[in-house]
Amino acid sequence: MKIAILNQKGGVGKTTLSVNLAASLSRACSRVLLIDADPQGSALDWAAARQAEPLFSAVGLPKPTLHRDIEQIGQGYDHIIIDGPPRVTELARSAIMAADLVIIPVQPSPLDVWAADEVVKQIDEARIYKPALNSVFAINRKIVNTALGRDVREALASYSVSALDASVCQRIVFAESAAQGLAVFETEPDGPAAREIEALREEIMQKYGNP
Ligand SMILES: Nc1ncnc2c1ncn2[C@@H]1O[C@H](COP(=O)(O)OP(=O)(O)OP(=O)(O)O)[C@@H](O)[C@H]1O
Ligand SMILES: [Mg+2]
Repeated sequence: MKIAILNQKGGVGKTTLSVNLAASLSRACSRVLLIDADPQGSALDWAAARQAEPLFSAVGLPKPTLHRDIEQIGQGYDHIIIDGPPRVTELARSAIMAADLVIIPVQPSPLDVWAADEVVKQIDEARIYKPALNSVFAINRKIVNTALGRDVREALASYSVSALDASVCQRIVFAESAAQGLAVFETEPDGPAAREIEALREEIMQKYGNP
């Protein structure tokens, strides 16, 4: 499956979810390629910070031809994760056209819900050419023990795109792991962050994995 993680809003967790989802899929015995489609190259920075053996392959491809190049580059992989760029650009459009599923991370704040408007529009445009394209919101940085997660679900319900039941909380271990190029399951194997990522992967594979 080809999964693009996209939202033109900066800092919502595109790279964090990309690397942890890629790591989680690799652990589940899949051959995974992570494509960094962001000119900032954050996913590649993550890979470069890593001292341990790589869990998956990672390449930088911040090019608007990604949707054309992906078949060749992705040969031999079970899953391809595309870490998308911030801002609405032709790079984001190409990442959408390259994907079977677009995951839109959103933080539980009204500003984030409003900002999602643009990526949803871009996905709707892409569906004209690619009717089978799937898209779904993933709530990230939910604050434990607040109602904000529930509120954001209600606010997101105004979009045609649904939200995953699994969500990811604000947890310092995400930033700590990123600094060492590790996935959260490597830093805290039985921790809540690792469990949240596993639940996210399971729900994604269950709902979109075997069309
Ligand atoms: N669930 C989380 N808990 C704690 N920190 C998080 C979480 N998700 C992301 N972060 C932190 O928030 C910051 C932004 O996350 P990230 O880089 O993944 O966002 P992004 O959408 O890829 O940003 P950009 O638009 O710049 O590419 C990073 O410092 C990251 O470690
Ligand atoms: Mg990023």
